[in-house]
Amino acid sequence: MPNGPKPLSDALETLSKGARSGLNRAPMTSPKAPSAGSALSSLLKEHRRFSPPAAFAERAHVGLREEYEKLYRESLESPEAFWRRETRDLVFRRSFTTALEWVLPHARWFVEAELNVSESCLDRHVSGGRKNKAALIWEAETGEVVTLTYAQLLREVEALSRGLRSLGVVAGDRVAIYMGMHPGAVVAMLACARVGAVHTVVFGGFAPEALRDRIADCGAKVVLTQDGALRRGKVVPLKRMVDEALTSPATSSVEHVVVLRRLAAEHPEGAITMVANRDHDWNTLCEQAREASSAPAVVPAEHPLFILYTSGSTGRPKGVLHTSAGYLAGVHVTSKYVFDLRDDDVYWCTADVGWVTGHSYIVYGPLSVGATCVLYEGAPNFPDWGRFWKLVERHGVTILYTAPTAIRAFMRAGREWPDGHDLSSLRLLGSVGEPINPEAWIWYREVIGRERCPIVDTWWQTETGSILLVTLPGAVDAKPGSTGLPFFGVEPDIVDKTGAPIANGAGGLLVLKRPWPSMLRTVWGDDERFRRQYFGEIEGVYFTGDGARRDEDGYYWVVGRIDDVLNVAGHRIGTAEIESALVSHPLVVEAAAVGRPDELKGQALVVFVTVRQGVTVTPPLAEELAEHVGQCLGKFAKPDAVRFTDALPKTRSGKIMRRLLKDVAAGRESTGDMSTLEDFSVLARLRAEEE
Ligand code: WTA
Repeated sequence: MPNGPKPLSDALETLSKGARSGLNRAPMTSPKAPSAGSALSSLLKEHRRFSPPAAFAERAHVGLREEYEKLYRESLESPEAFWRRETRDLVFRRSFTTALEWVLPHARWFVEAELNVSESCLDRHVSGGRKNKAALIWEAETGEVVTLTYAQLLREVEALSRGLRSLGVVAGDRVAIYMGMHPGAVVAMLACARVGAVHTVVFGGFAPEALRDRIADCGAKVVLTQDGALRRGKVVPLKRMVDEALTSPATSSVEHVVVLRRLAAEHPEGAITMVANRDHDWNTLCEQAREASSAPAVVPAEHPLFILYTSGSTGRPKGVLHTSAGYLAGVHVTSKYVFDLRDDDVYWCTADVGWVTGHSYIVYGPLSVGATCVLYEGAPNFPDWGRFWKLVERHGVTILYTAPTAIRAFMRAGREWPDGHDLSSLRLLGSVGEPINPEAWIWYREVIGRERCPIVDTWWQTETGSILLVTLPGAVDAKPGSTGLPFFGVEPDIVDKTGAPIANGAGGLLVLKRPWPSMLRTVWGDDERFRRQYFGEIEGVYFTGDGARRDEDGYYWVVGRIDDVLNVAGHRIGTAEIESALVSHPLVVEAAAVGRPDELKGQALVVFVTVRQGVTVTPPLAEELAEHVGQCLGKFAKPDAVRFTDALPKTRSGKIMRRLLKDVAAGRESTGDMSTLEDFSVLARLRAEEE
């Protein structure tokens, strides 16, 4: 890593100065917090409340505020009774007597339970009357539609489970999944779960290097992939990228690659070569494995279900580990109550299966409830900005769950796109991934929801596994820009860096004071990092890395990360990863990455780079460096701006003062303490260059 870890105290300093970036600026210390622009002032004036529409509340799982409160109280006071009742629809082969065993920081939930997660998502529906109900409605970017019923999905999962077993995969083995938005990805995850293998889905937008690192970190034995996916009419050559990743000796754990053929003959650019004794055609493998068993492996409650890599403030991405019973319980209960899922719903979460939202709210949550889920392969604006609304109309989508960055892009594209479609099927809208600015919230409500649909702004993280803050749509008033109240079993607080509670209205750190079923259990292969990162900052509580405040009604307003994690268009990116990628370029000596407020993306990625002496800095070099980052990590992480500097502002002890760089990137004055800055001229030169 080019730069050492940044202590929490630095972040807190930034927080208390109000010098933060992003769109949805809540005041952290006082309403007079500097330089947050019009978004902040609009949020400060934000006092609107929207009650659940009566027609919605009448039929909702929780239709009254008092009912929410009663359930919430029960979830804290009698967790065992609460979770026993709320998990009764799930298939536990063996029941539990101990709901929670908590030896800080390690939680074990539903301790004695035994289960196979795939049975709750598939078998129970097939035998319980949903056999012919659509589980997945897949729309390819080309417009082709494939529907899989619960019975068909189970058959596919059984077939691949046999295939995996025929390759020698057993419970506990790691399997990497590198696929696009295709039903095969869902089948892959559930088949892993069925044989007890631990999947690690790597977002298809990640570059081969990122795939390589993840495979190496978890020691995957098998990679499941597809020849290619379609994005904006172009082929994303996933299998070829797997081939590239596997040229590295670091991936020697991989014994087999299984390839699903998604592309038809009209896409010769997706042609692949199969490596003898390593690569298998998905369908052939499944056919040849007919004799193998597809019986679900019954595993203990805490058996690992998946590893999902996510960015932290330092070092390489960490493998967040989720286990079986607790994770399933968390996503099941939130899917039911937050999305108010009923049997006649057509539910569409627009996330990618490669991110946690896809894991929890495309696959495990909604399927555990028995919902019909839409899966869309392509880009939201392909072939035009009407694509999403056409999908809603075509499939009669009733619940839509998407990200603020998408909503803002649709706002910019113009309301004629949604207005040109019949959106009357919609009854509930959701938002996730970053703070939503009130303007976008109101637009979502008026233009998409036609003032009829409640909005749920859901706060959670890869690490939390499921939604933790939300206003239940039939029971609790929503406030634009607020993520609302704690979900059942969740006890959040706002504290200062010593852990002392902060009064309502003021800003501080968002922490969680008790374990919840779907919390991460550790960081794969690095329990020390798990302790340090989440429980090492503030004694005895889980530290989220987010800054927030709580208002007089107990509503939480999450401002965003206070550590060195950026949220660019809803994608979580660690500054350390960007900086590593930059310094791996032969001409770069040192680099620092920061976020700059961006109307569309929430944050844009700005990098400051010092190059080797004698190298002339030119716009093509800037583009080359941006491209290099894209190649190391994936296009979504390509910097929006590259700025050259002969030195970076540092403290006397040599730490880069990112806080100052953030100010420079945002074009605002620095207000904080600068007494530790070693060389003032560096900052002056950076600023002068701007003018
Ligand atoms: C941010 C995505 C404000 C937050 C599910 C968190 C949000 C990080 C919201 C986790 C929201 C997520 N309002 N901020 N509704 N949802 N965040 O792991 O900073 O990709 O810590 O999980 O996204 O990002 P991750």
